[in-house]
Amino acid sequence: MTLELSAFGKRFSGQTGIGELMDDLGRALGGQDDMLMMGGGNPGHIPEMQAIWRRRMEEILGEGQRFEQMLGNYDPPQGNARFISSLVRCLNDACGWDLTEENVCVTNGGQTAFFCLLNMLAGKQTNGRRKRILFPLTPEYIGYADQGVDSELFVANKPQFEFIDDHTFKYHVDFESLDVGDDVAAICVSRPTNPTGNVLTDDEIGQLAKLADARGIPLIIDNAYGSPFPNAMFTEVQPVWNENIVLTLSLSKLGLPGTRTGIVIARKEITSALSSMNAVVGLANGNIGQVLVEPLLASGELIRISREIIQPYYYRKSLRAVERVHECFDAKLPYRVHKSEGAFFLWLWFERLPITTQELYRRLKERRTLVVPGRYFFYGLDGDWQHSHECIRMTFSQSDETVQKGVAIIAEEMARAYAV
Ligand SMILES: Cc1ncc(COP(=O)(O)O)c(C=O)c1O
Repeated sequence: MTLELSAFGKRFSGQTGIGELMDDLGRALGGQDDMLMMGGGNPGHIPEMQAIWRRRMEEILGEGQRFEQMLGNYDPPQGNARFISSLVRCLNDACGWDLTEENVCVTNGGQTAFFCLLNMLAGKQTNGRRKRILFPLTPEYIGYADQGVDSELFVANKPQFEFIDDHTFKYHVDFESLDVGDDVAAICVSRPTNPTGNVLTDDEIGQLAKLADARGIPLIIDNAYGSPFPNAMFTEVQPVWNENIVLTLSLSKLGLPGTRTGIVIARKEITSALSSMNAVVGLANGNIGQVLVEPLLASGELIRISREIIQPYYYRKSLRAVERVHECFDAKLPYRVHKSEGAFFLWLWFERLPITTQELYRRLKERRTLVVPGRYFFYGLDGDWQHSHECIRMTFSQSDETVQKGVAIIAEEMARAYAV
């Protein structure tokens, strides 16, 4: 007997880009094979950070009934009250904002926050009209791509290119072609951007915020890698928030992806809607991450750690990875690297590559090297765009040895592809 699925069931149980990627990633990280893991967004295992989380767990075990309370109690759907109040104080101190507890909702990871946010704003409205989320700069995070309960939830805009030198480029929002139509429910960007390592400039964010204000729609800024924590940023920009901005953060890139803790900072109307959704979908959030991190927010130590441990760790990794690319890639070939300004990725563009990067992905996988083909990141566009078949994302958060070996293999396969 075949199982009959609803439209929702079919939509979320089929093969998706993110599902395939998480599968490959899980297998490679689970040690089931000897893959060079350059594909996923897993944070690096930073020894200093691991020592902090171990110390915190020991403190919890030694603190009266703290451990039993953590495991034995449901939190309210908005999140752990103590965590939220320390977070509010920490962000207000670090960023000069005037958040209150009402501006926060915790979720089971940033990914879940986005599932709720995107579908809560866009899709079929009560008046029967359909609304969409606008990504003003494609390529964007693969994790949003399949999240729409309604089909065609997304619309995206191609970027402008800045050519920095022969082998370095940077995307910018193309404001001239950006059309915020009446059917747009929210504008959304990740900053730093996964997959490119781009950091939208303060001016770009300012212009997007103005456009969103003018339309009376929110600007969603996904700050999973941003400042003030985890601060995997290699360029100085201003963290921003106001009542019309929905800012999402996560504990994952601090080295805690296993705790599944996301944070949404928004006006009360939005955070209380999200809290209600939390209750329906999952009753409460996982609270282990919140209990681990709370005292570091209360003391402000998390900001210092992000600045003194996490930022230099990923900056060094980024510099080494870029250096390795230029060392291994044939300078005569038309390869380009997106300027690495944050997050854990290098975005490589092979202009006029005779094969698609889907095929390059297959060839690399055969050589036990895992990257992500670019086309997954270009959803929401009308029609096909050649550029989307010419890019790959590679991660530099894993061991230096993995990156060194992996880049050499990518260089060989790329040269082989251009040679035909
Ligand atoms: C840009 C971006 N947003 C959100 C997420 C979701 O992270 P999590 O659900 O672990 O908080 C990720 C994870 O890689 C990401 O790269």
